[in-house]
Formats: sequence, C-alpha cells, structure tokens
Amino acid sequence: MIEITFVSNGGKVVSAPENSNLLRVSLREKGGIPFKCGGGLCGTCKCKIERGLGFTDAIKPKERKHLTEAQFGEGYRMACQTFVNGDISVSWEVQMSPVKAVGTVAG
Ligand code: FES
Repeated sequence: MIEITFVSNGGKVVSAPENSNLLRVSLREKGGIPFKCGGGLCGTCKCKIERGLGFTDAIKPKERKHLTEAQFGEGYRMACQTFVNGDISVSWEVQMSPVKAVGTVAG
C-alpha cells in the first residue's frame, strides 16, 4: 500500500494500492481534489505533486493540453490522468465556496 497526503484538505492521509489513479483515490477517500469530467478533458483536476513526483507515471498527451512544460517541471499534473506507485503529497487551488444566500437566519 502507498500513502497519499491531501495537503489542501488539512493534510488528510489515506492509503491506497500501488498504481492507483489519483482522482479515483481522492473520490473514494474524500480527498477533495476538484474534478468535473474525470476523462482528461476539462482540466479541473489540476494539482501539484508536492512530494513524491518520482512516484507518478508518465505525463499523458491530454495533460499537455492543460499544463505547460514549466508547470510539469514544478510538479503539476492532472489527477484523473495520473497513477501513483509510492507515497506522495498533493495540493491544489481551493475554490472558495460561494457566499451563502443573502438574508438573516433566525435562531
Ligand atoms: S477531471 Fe476533467 S481533466 Fe481531470
């Protein structure tokens, strides 16, 4: 088993089998990586491998549509396209949740 640390989710640590898809682990364990399509199209799952980049598999052509060579160099990947075979830490840009509807709540 390997350990994945979800830095942008309070440092939550989960374990997963080797060669797991990063987005699938996030979904199963409520890691919190944002996503929409799950198929390499939308780019929403962009994340940064803070530690253990060497434990991720080869960059896919679909990722090259959303990320630059410089970003790959900094450790950015698309979670739905990335398989992990060792301990990593991953972070991402946290979207602020929209401000709740205007109005006062009684009690
Ligand atoms: S979730 Fe859409 S590209 Fe990964």
